[in-house]
Amino acid sequence: MTNLIKQIIDDLMKPVFEDLRATPLWIKWVVIVITCAATIPLALIFRSRTSYSDKPKIHFIQNMDNQPKFVSQEPNALFLDGRAMRPKIKGTIAQDGMAGNTHKFMGIIDGAWADTYPPSLTVDRDFIRRGQERFNIYCAPCHGIGGFGDGIIHKRATQLVETGVNGTSWVAPKNLHEEVVREQPVGQLFNSITNGIRTMAAYGSQIPVDDRWAIISYMEALQVSQNANPDSVEGANALPHKDSSNEGSGE
Ligand code: HEC
Repeated sequence: MTNLIKQIIDDLMKPVFEDLRATPLWIKWVVIVITCAATIPLALIFRSRTSYSDKPKIHFIQNMDNQPKFVSQEPNALFLDGRAMRPKIKGTIAQDGMAGNTHKFMGIIDGAWADTYPPSLTVDRDFIRRGQERFNIYCAPCHGIGGFGDGIIHKRATQLVETGVNGTSWVAPKNLHEEVVREQPVGQLFNSITNGIRTMAAYGSQIPVDDRWAIISYMEALQVSQNANPDSVEGANALPHKDSSNEGSGE
C-alpha cells in the first residue's frame, strides 16, 4: 500500500523535477526574487497600519474633505475672547435639555395633551399682552385680529381663488372661536403652533417657546371674550342679556 502511494507520487513528481532541472538558472533566480519582492508591499501595509505618523494620510480623492476651518476648542484671533467656539446664544436649549420637560417644550404630560401652562411661566397681564403682540404679528394675518379666521391673507387668497388668477386652491384659516378649537387643551394648541397642523405651517422655528405659550394665553383671552359665562361677572344678572335665540351661549 505505502509502496503504491510512493509509486504514484514519484510518477507525478518526476516530470516536474525534470522540468525544474532543465530550467535555466536565471529564470529560477527571477522567480525567487519576485516571490521575495512580493512580500514587500504586505510588509509596508502592515507597518503603516501599526505605526504612528505625524504626516497627513495619503488621500487620493479629495472631494471637499479638507478645507480651512476651525474645530472645537481651537483659538481664533478674530474674536475678542480668542475662542473659535462661540458662547451659546441666550435661550439656547440642548436637545437633551428638553427631554425631561415635555410639558413646556411639547405640551405633553404623561403622554397626554397638557391642560395647564408650564409651571415656570406666570400667566399674568404682561404675559397675555406679550401674547397679543406676537399673535398680531404671526397669526392675525391669516386668523384675523379677532381670531375669526378672516385675516388679510385669507381675504386676498379668497379673492385670487374666486377670480381664478393663479388657479390655486385655498384652505381657510380656522376660526379660533369654533368649539373644536375652544375645547382643545393648551398642550394641543402648543403642538399646532410648534409643528403646524394639516395645511397650516409650523411656527416652532420662528417663535420662541415662551412666546408660543404667551400666544396661547392670548388666544384663550380672545375665546373668553366671545364665550364668557355671564355668571362669572358679579352683578351680571342686573345687566341686559343676549337674546337666547342667538347662536352661542348667552346665559
Ligand atoms: C399662513 C396662514 C396662517 C398663519 C400665519 C397661521 N395659521 Fe393657524 N391655521 C391656518 C390654516 C389654513 C388652518 C387650517 C388648517 C387645515 O384645516 O388644514 C389653521 C388652523 C389653526 C388652528 C386649528 C387647529 C385644529 O386643531 O384644527 C389653530 C389653533 C391655529 N391655526 C393657530 C394658529 C396660531 C396660534 C398662529 C400664530 C402663531 C397661526 N395659527 C398662524 C393658517 C394660518
